[in-house]
Formats: sequence, C-alpha cells, structure tokens
Amino acid sequence: MERSTWGTRAGFIMAAVGSAVGLGNIWRFPYVAYDNGGGAFFIPYLFALLTAGIPILILEFTIGHKYRGSAPLSFFRMSGKKLEWMGWWAILVSFVISVYYAVIIAWAMRYTIFSINQAWGTDTETFLFSDFLQLTVEPGQTGSIVWGIFIPLAIVWIITLGILAAGVKRGIEAANRIFIPTLVVIFLIIVIRAVTLEGAGLGLTAFFEPNFDAIMDPSVWVAAYGHIFFSLSIAFAIMITYSSYLPKKSDITNNAFITGFANSSFELLAGIGVFAVLGFMAAQSGDAVADVATAGVGLAFVVFPAIINEFPGFNGLFGVLFFLSLTIAGLTSLMSITETYVAGISEKFGTSRTKAVLVGGGLAALISILFATQGGLFFLDLVDYYINQFGVAAIGLVEVIMIAWVFRKLDTLKDHANPLSDIQLGGWWKISLGVITPIVLGYMMFGLLRTNIL
Ligand code: PHE
Repeated sequence: MERSTWGTRAGFIMAAVGSAVGLGNIWRFPYVAYDNGGGAFFIPYLFALLTAGIPILILEFTIGHKYRGSAPLSFFRMSGKKLEWMGWWAILVSFVISVYYAVIIAWAMRYTIFSINQAWGTDTETFLFSDFLQLTVEPGQTGSIVWGIFIPLAIVWIITLGILAAGVKRGIEAANRIFIPTLVVIFLIIVIRAVTLEGAGLGLTAFFEPNFDAIMDPSVWVAAYGHIFFSLSIAFAIMITYSSYLPKKSDITNNAFITGFANSSFELLAGIGVFAVLGFMAAQSGDAVADVATAGVGLAFVVFPAIINEFPGFNGLFGVLFFLSLTIAGLTSLMSITETYVAGISEKFGTSRTKAVLVGGGLAALISILFATQGGLFFLDLVDYYINQFGVAAIGLVEVIMIAWVFRKLDTLKDHANPLSDIQLGGWWKISLGVITPIVLGYMMFGLLRTNIL
C-alpha cells in the first residue's frame, strides 16, 4: 500500500507545531520559567533548545523521513530487532499520557461552557474539587463516574479518533490547518487583553526579572532540559511518526527549526499572557505576584477562574477564549500522541487505519474513564508524576546513546538529511547529540534515581 503523505509543507509544520504546542506551553512554561530564574531562565532554556530540543527534533524528523515508518518500524529498519523495542517503549509512554491528557482537555472543554456565566462562583477551589471533580473518595478508590467529566471526555475522544480515522491528509492535516491558525488568533486576543489590564506590568516584571544566581544551580538546567523534552513532544515517538508521512523531497533541518522556534514563541507569549493576568490579580488583591503564581491544574482551573471573576467589562468572553485555547492546543497534541500507537498497531498487525483507531484509541478511551471518576484526580496525579519523572527523559537518554554510540548512526542520518536541507548538519549536531545531551540527561536520571530510590 502506498504510504499516506502530507498534502503540503505547511500542513506538516502545522501538525508538528500542533503537537508541540499544548497544555505544557500554556500552563507549565510560564511557571517553570518564573520559578527557575525568571528572565535568566532564558539562558539555560535556549541552551537546552539548541543542544537537545532542535537536534533531537532533527534526528527524529530524519529517522521518520528516511525509514518511513512509525517509531518501532523505523527503528527496526534502522538497526533491526535490537532497536525496535525502543519504539514500543516510547509508544507505551505515549499511550499512557494520552489517556490522562484527554481528561484534562475534557475539563477545559467543560470550563469553556462554565466561563460564559462564571458558573464556578466565588470559591473556585471548592467548586473545582467538590462540585466539579466530586473528589470525595479516599485516594485509590474510584467512586462513581462523574458525568460532568465523562460527557466532555467522550466528545474529546470522538473528535480525536474521528480525525485520525479520516487519515493523515484529510484528517490530521486538515484539522491542524483549521485549529492552529484559530489558536494563534485566539491567543493573540487573550495576550493583548491581558497586557492592557491594570497591574499587568507587575506580573511582567515578576516574570522577566532575571535572577542570575539561579543559573549557577544545576536543578535549573535540569528543569530547562525537562521542559524542552515535554514541550517539543520529543522522545515520544510522535515526531518520528509525523515525519514518516513527509514526501520524499522535504527540507528536514529547516522544518525542525521552524517547529522549534514556533513552539518557543508560543510559550513566550503564554508566559507574557499568564503573568500579565497574575499581575492584574495581584494589583486587585494587594498580594504579591509570588503569592498567586502557580502552574498546572491550580493555575488553569482555580486561579484563572478566580481572576476572570474580577475582570472589568464583559468577563465571559475572556474565560471562553482562555479555555477554548487550552482545549484546542490540547486536542492537536492528543491527536499526535494517539497517532503514534495507531500507526504502530496498524503497521505491526497489518490492519487498516480505521481498525487501529478503533482498537488502540478505543482502549485508551476506555481506560481514560478511570480518570472521570470521583477518585480520578488521585490516579491522574500519580500517573503524571511517574511518567514525567521516569518516562520521557529516560527514553531521550536511551535514544541518543543507542543512536549515537551503540549503533553509530549519526553520520548515516546526517548524510540523509543534508542533501535535502538548507541548513547543513555538522559538528554542532553531532556534539549536541553525542556528548551534551547524554551528559545532561544522564545527570538528570542519576539525580532522579538518587532522590526517588536510594
Ligand atoms: N508538547 C505538549 C505540550 O506542550 C505535550 C505533549 C507531550 C503532547 C507529549 C503530546 C505528547 O503540552
């Protein structure tokens, strides 16, 4: 069977950017940067982007393009059975992430509706945990299904699996061509509104103020590398899968730079937007920005709703746009991560795309119901913690060591990418992948093992 391909270069880039830009950019980056040196964080961040993020993106684009398969098949074609397992490992991590990532998108979708009349009331924290999540059981128990989560969750899966079933060009590409420009427009509106709020300056000062001492602290560098991996969706099998649908004549390195910088621009914008809003909150309440700054669930579903309550003028719209942007950014990432196992299953078992979507996606959807129960948040926190601690960086580390040192494939890959690309790969790329990334990730894993196990 002829392999599906993207219709246009812009289509591929939008899909890759769609994967990279997700919840992490909006609710994770602003706080990670703020917490790790503010303005000074850009030094380790850029370093991580240029020595790990973009080099690995180029690596994965090249692998997908050259070997034209999902991660396990590409690794198999590169170095045989001895490497195929690495693709399955990445797919397994992707599967697990997709299962709970979908649930958070479902919350965001539900909150989009709540925003219209601020249905969350004045005590947004109690609303989230008691009324919405109905977290009334002991950790480890499921309780019953919470329909307010289950229904949007079903919608999230129907949209995602429907798009994947429609195919690479007619499904994933077509959806991203609508979603990504929409997301950019919505986000620009949000950020412009945010920076014109009273007190925005306070937040921006807190965000950008550089603490240069921070960059002497190794944990700040670890945070930068960890964030780059998650944010760019690398070492998840995604970028290999997406680039396996590239037409033969495709610029590889340039596409990787565009994807990397687009993702970073988006998160910088998110940082500005989020901290401007936090500044507004600080100005209203008289608290310091440091007291309101946070990330993740607390930021998006407790702090933001509380701030939206205080908005001048018609406050429904800002909330709708904010939660809609989370929903859209999340959906395009969920599509990509689900595609890793859809492609893996369909190639391994020779089944059609539709069957693979039904089996792989169906299984993920079923398991995700666990997180739509009363005890769902406990399970979600637990899985998220372990996956983030051990899943991603570990695969990244094994991937670079295997490819650069055990199977010594960097030159083969470089010779594949260079004739196709404007930007030529050379010493920078090889040193980044062969030396810098393994050292940093190795140090990171060692630290994790020490604090968690020893
Ligand atoms: N890159 C996405 C984000 O920033 C997260 C993600 C990771 C999505 C892995 C898919 C796979 O939120």
